[in-house]
Amino acid sequence: MKLFLKTVLLSAIVCLCYPLSAAPKSDDGKVSEKEIARRVETLMKKMTLREKLGQLTQLRPSTGTVTGPSGEPMVVEDFIREGCCGSLLSVRKSEDITRYQRIAVDSSRLGIPLLFGKDIIHGCRIVFPENLGLSSSWDMDVIEKSARIAAAESAAYGIAWTFSPMCDISTDPRWGRVSEGSGEDPYLGSAIARAMVHGYQGDDLADKSTIIACVKHFAAYGAPQAGRDYHTVDMSERMFRDRYLPPYRAAVEAGAATVMSSFNDFDAIPATGNKWLLQTVLRDELGFKGFVVTDYNAVHEMVEHGVAADGKEAAALAMDAHVNMDMVDSDFIKYGEELVREKRISEKTIDMLCREVLAVKFRLGLFDDPFRYGGKARENEFYLPENMEVARDAARKSMVLLQNNDDILPLNGTERIALIGPYGNSGDEMLGAWRGYGESSRAVTFLAGLQERFGRENVSFSEGCKPFAAIEGGADAAVAAARDADVVLLTLGLPSKCSGEATSLTSIEVPQAQRDLLDAVAATGKPVVVLLVTGRPMDIGYETEKADAVLLTWHAGTMAGKALADVVSGDFNPSGRLSMTFPLNIGQVPVHYNMKRTGRPMLDPASRAKYLSRYMFTPNEPRYCFGYGLSYTTFDYSDLKVLTPEVAVGEPVKVSVKVTNSGKRDGAEVVQLYIRDLVASTTRPVRELKGFERVFLKAGESKTVEFVIRPEDMAFCRRDMKFAQEAGDFHVWAGHDSNAELQGMFTVK
Ligand code: BGC
Repeated sequence: MKLFLKTVLLSAIVCLCYPLSAAPKSDDGKVSEKEIARRVETLMKKMTLREKLGQLTQLRPSTGTVTGPSGEPMVVEDFIREGCCGSLLSVRKSEDITRYQRIAVDSSRLGIPLLFGKDIIHGCRIVFPENLGLSSSWDMDVIEKSARIAAAESAAYGIAWTFSPMCDISTDPRWGRVSEGSGEDPYLGSAIARAMVHGYQGDDLADKSTIIACVKHFAAYGAPQAGRDYHTVDMSERMFRDRYLPPYRAAVEAGAATVMSSFNDFDAIPATGNKWLLQTVLRDELGFKGFVVTDYNAVHEMVEHGVAADGKEAAALAMDAHVNMDMVDSDFIKYGEELVREKRISEKTIDMLCREVLAVKFRLGLFDDPFRYGGKARENEFYLPENMEVARDAARKSMVLLQNNDDILPLNGTERIALIGPYGNSGDEMLGAWRGYGESSRAVTFLAGLQERFGRENVSFSEGCKPFAAIEGGADAAVAAARDADVVLLTLGLPSKCSGEATSLTSIEVPQAQRDLLDAVAATGKPVVVLLVTGRPMDIGYETEKADAVLLTWHAGTMAGKALADVVSGDFNPSGRLSMTFPLNIGQVPVHYNMKRTGRPMLDPASRAKYLSRYMFTPNEPRYCFGYGLSYTTFDYSDLKVLTPEVAVGEPVKVSVKVTNSGKRDGAEVVQLYIRDLVASTTRPVRELKGFERVFLKAGESKTVEFVIRPEDMAFCRRDMKFAQEAGDFHVWAGHDSNAELQGMFTVK
């Protein structure tokens, strides 16, 4: 009874402190920033130092999903009650979210609501293709929609904060986290970062279906040495600014409310204690106004990095670098008061850090209704049929046709199909890494999708082998199934558990057990279509020799089977294009299209000259270049016109190109535009993507696509370290991929 009375009283106080109805709103109907600042200050005046540190603390309850080392067990309920926790990470069940929130609101002194965060990176309930797959769609509309749906489902589940988009450029397929990003290119990566932030956050954070985004991992986490996760990052500031910074910048400019500091060091200083990154670049240059959360335990890991003697010193480093929230290791709450007492951190700094966190909570409307996210009543917002169709569209647009000898695809619909391989009948394997609150039971398997499209009786299934091991009798059964069919669809690749964090590999070949299966099946002489299931580029030289066609399906998400059926049947003409180069073999890594030229460029691939930048026994060219992808039709390019052959610095360049669907089927093409700065004050990449457009063309139809290259698109980190444009001559190419041949020229005066 006593508790009940206290609860009622506290709730009443909270309501009195933060009445929404009284909150003045701006013209756009949102609570104004001025009003938010006022409410933050009112609340801050009531807070003790410890409570402020509490707002800077994110804990992982034992009921949460484990996404890192488990650390000390703790009773988070006690921390919440004492006002020593501002946020919880990865709570698994929706009802637990409500329960924890109830404790925060009813049983802590000030009733400050918790912010619940989770990695909802490619879907929440409905799972979309893994991000590298999504990026291969080059379709900003479908990517933004996927984020919007993920946000709506997360909000309905109780999560108001996602740790996405991952804006880490990476050129190294050994690094498993490439599956979470958008590939190797800063221009495409920036467009995707913007689309995702808009998708998650919408126009109004206080809307019940929007959530806050978190730009990660700041910074340059995608460039660990040798592709080994968490490893040292060492690059020049110039390289960082030219290639790695742009997508983070784009996400910040799109209004992302939070940023995550990364695990890695950068120029020998761990990012989480790196004031240059977090203050000078992020806040002073990019103008970031939200709050920074660390990656998991990243404060304390500065002790392992060897730049702090203990957790206390690590906390001081992070706070001083302008980190607002400490994820999991709780060093802020453990040592914050001591640090202030010892005058190593000022209370003013803590106030600033806390203010920025509280402002975001106010913007989300959490104080007005702490239970607006989640709750039983919102369960009917999951798996909406129209959203499932978006997932299907995203999945089929993500698939990339890599090889199609003799136009074996699309199937003509009369064949008997043998679906073979370890991923053919697994919902789980469709979901990939970081699958939000996805349920494998809801995933449409390849088998289900094909049977629905082609008839149950026309599609057989045989597992053949496990991803890394043979199954007794598996190959024999698969061979029998192949003999009995007209065509084999063979799933090969890497399982979900080889995607995402802590999945670095030194081989990107298809595991031997699967190759043995391919050998056995191919020996039947039946046509073989490999369905490549993977979250990273792979070396598939062996497979392309043995198979007739290769369709890169990725881990395609909840609607994988339907999307696959759409593509192999020809109901949907594949239009996916690689956003990351597929190397010829691992020895070429890192290999990407936007390399520098060097002083001894290998201009003629057939040259036998020795003293060139080349390998002795391997070509420089990758297996599949950036932007590559086949279609069931063909596209021809002509009439490349530079409409502004001479412009002044600061003026845009306009280029147009005619693209014609020269084949017999309707289909979409991703028209790509590349430039090269011929002579500059620093060495420049041989090509850089500066425009792209997806166009749908009926068979025989032509369209002229016009591109505008903005002055800022031509800016780079010049010799004087200014990020700006330079005068000079440029080549420009438009076409199907990064090897586009149609060339023009322009001059910036
Ligand atoms: C990952 C982050 C993730 C965090 C929370 C870390 O291990 O690096 O990307 O957001 O865990 O789950």
